[in-house]
Amino acid sequence: MIQSDLDLFGPQPQRLASHTVLLPGFALGEVEALLDALRPVLRAAPWRHMHTPGGQRMAVALSNCGALGWVSDERGYRYSPLDPLSGQPWPALPAVLLALAGRAAAQAGFEGFVPDACLINHYLPGTRLSLHQDRDERDFGQPIVSISLGLPAVFLFGGLQRADRAQRIALNHGDVLVWGGEDRLRFHGVLPVKPGVHPRLGERRINLTLRKAG
Ligand code: SIN
Ligand code: FE2
Repeated sequence: MIQSDLDLFGPQPQRLASHTVLLPGFALGEVEALLDALRPVLRAAPWRHMHTPGGQRMAVALSNCGALGWVSDERGYRYSPLDPLSGQPWPALPAVLLALAGRAAAQAGFEGFVPDACLINHYLPGTRLSLHQDRDERDFGQPIVSISLGLPAVFLFGGLQRADRAQRIALNHGDVLVWGGEDRLRFHGVLPVKPGVHPRLGERRINLTLRKAG
């Protein structure tokens, strides 16, 4: 058996729950390719702040790529094939992202993951994401693959009830977190990002979550 670079040189995957695996540094070798792929995506579908159904402006700025994109407005949360800003389809899911997500999911025990949506979240220092479940996707049998870039963050990983105690997981530049199976509907969120300057991305954190939404 050929050991992967991850086994030989990098930190080992960490199982955080029965169907949740942290892959430290898994995306590090592809950061430049990912950033190159994101640039045209963000030109076509720029960052924007959406509003919750209750009318609150979300602190996180977001965009999407893929056949479907996650949107929120007064009508609720849902996936849409069209970017509401442009009225056009979301930019396609870059091949590098699709491949990376498939490999990460497989490492975590989810073979054959083919996402059709990637939510791209942008955090400035101080930005947080409150506890929520990812439940707008059709098939909860498919995992979520989350890629973190830029400033570090503390990810809150709770239970199936909002009030359940949450683990605190450090997510650093290049880390990939995969959750699915019986962990798929766990509440999760992000603590306010601490001020800092990341050597590659500056004063920001970017998180990509790949989903099979439709
Ligand atoms: C999300 O739950 O959509 C994003 C999680 C993260 O930014 O790490
Ligand atoms: Fe989420």
